[in-house]
Amino acid sequence: MDAVNRQVRLAQRPVGLPKASDWDHTEEPVTEPGDGEVLIKVKYLSLDPAMRGWMNDARSYVPPVGIGEVMRAGGCGEVIASEHPGFAPGDHVTGITGIQEHAVLHGDGLIKIDPGLAPLPVYLGTLGMPGMTAYFGLLEIGKPQEGETVVVSAAAGAVGSVVGQIAKIKGCRAVGIAGGEEKCRHIVEELGFDAAIDYKSENVLKGLRQHCPDGIDVYFDNVGGEILDAALACLARGARIPLCGAISQYNATEGMRGPANYMSLLVNRGTMTGFLVFDFADRYAEAAQEMAGWIQEGRLKSFEDVASGGVSAFPDTLLRLFSGENLGKLVLEV
Ligand SMILES: NC(=O)c1ccc[n+]([C@@H]2O[C@H](COP(=O)([O-])OP(=O)(O)OC[C@H]3O[C@@H](n4cnc5c(N)ncnc54)[C@H](OP(=O)(O)O)[C@@H]3O)[C@@H](O)[C@H]2O)c1
Repeated sequence: MDAVNRQVRLAQRPVGLPKASDWDHTEEPVTEPGDGEVLIKVKYLSLDPAMRGWMNDARSYVPPVGIGEVMRAGGCGEVIASEHPGFAPGDHVTGITGIQEHAVLHGDGLIKIDPGLAPLPVYLGTLGMPGMTAYFGLLEIGKPQEGETVVVSAAAGAVGSVVGQIAKIKGCRAVGIAGGEEKCRHIVEELGFDAAIDYKSENVLKGLRQHCPDGIDVYFDNVGGEILDAALACLARGARIPLCGAISQYNATEGMRGPANYMSLLVNRGTMTGFLVFDFADRYAEAAQEMAGWIQEGRLKSFEDVASGGVSAFPDTLLRLFSGENLGKLVLEV
C-alpha cells in the first residue's frame, strides 16, 4: 500500500500542561492487516482528560504511553481491509486507534457501529465511553432516587452533560457546576438542568447552599480540588459521591490537592467511591441501547464539539479540555 500514515507520538513526558515539544509528528507507510487484524481509516479521534494521566510515568489502570509511541486514543473509522471474519471493508468501528490516520488493530478489540443510526462522533461521546461513564457512574455508584438532588461538576462536558440529563430522567433535581455564562445557560436552557453554578464567577459554596437547600444526595465529581471541597460541605445524610475524575489536578506540578472537608462523609454517613467505566464493559450494549432510546425520544441530547485540522492539530486541540473551551464531547476530525 502506498498511502502515508501521519501520526503523533509522545516525545517526552510533559510537566504541567503538555507543550508542542512534548510531541513528535511522524509519517510511515500504511501497512496491510495480518491474520485476525483489520485496517481502519480513522475518521474521528476522541480527546479525553484521561490522556494527561497516560503521559505520566506512574502506576495506573493502564500502562503509561511509552516515549516514542503513538499517543493512545479512542477513535472511530471505516474498515478498508480485513483479515478478521467479523469485519468487512465498509464497516464502521470504534476502538483504541491512537493519534494516527490509519490503524491496524486486532478485530477482537473493535466494536461495530452504525453511522445510519447516529453520526460517528456520537459513538465517541454519549453512545461511547463518556456516555457509559455517566450512565454507570451515576446509576450504579450514585444510585439516585426520585426526588433527590444530584450535583455534577464539568457539567457542560461529555460526561457531566449526560449525568445531569440522566438525573432528570430519573426524577431528580439536577444542579450543574460549569465554567462561564454560556455553559451555564446551555445546561439549564438546552439540557434541562434545574440550576447552574458558574464556578468562574460565583462562590460555589454559596451557590450549592442556594440551589440544594436540603443538601446534596449525589455529587458526581469530575474535577476534584476546591469544588469537591465545596460539595463535601453541603452533603445530605447518606450522600454518595461517585469519584469519576479530578481534571482540576491533572496538570498539577506540585502534587494533587486532596479534599480537606472529608470529615463531612463521617458526619453525614456518606460514601465516596472511585470507579472506572471499563469495569462495566460487559454491560455497554445494554446501556447504549437504553440511551439511544432516550436520544430518539428527545429526552437525552448529545453535543459534540468537532475540531478540525487532522492529527497534526492534536497537541493544541487537547488543551481545550483544560482551558474549558469545549462544549460537549471534544473530538478531532481526521
Ligand atoms: N472514571 C472513569 O472511568 C472516567 C471515564 C471518562 C472520563 N472520566 C473523567 O471525567 C471527567 C470529565 O471528562 P470528560 O471527557 O467529560 O471531559 P469534559 O467535561 O468534556 O471536558 C473537560 C472539562 O473540564 C472542565 N475543567 C477543566 N479544567 C478545570 C478546572 N481546573 N476546574 C474545574 N473544571 C475544569 C472544563 O469545563 P469548564 O469550562 O466547566 O471548566 C472542561 O470543558 C474528567 O475528570 C475525566 O478524567 C472518568
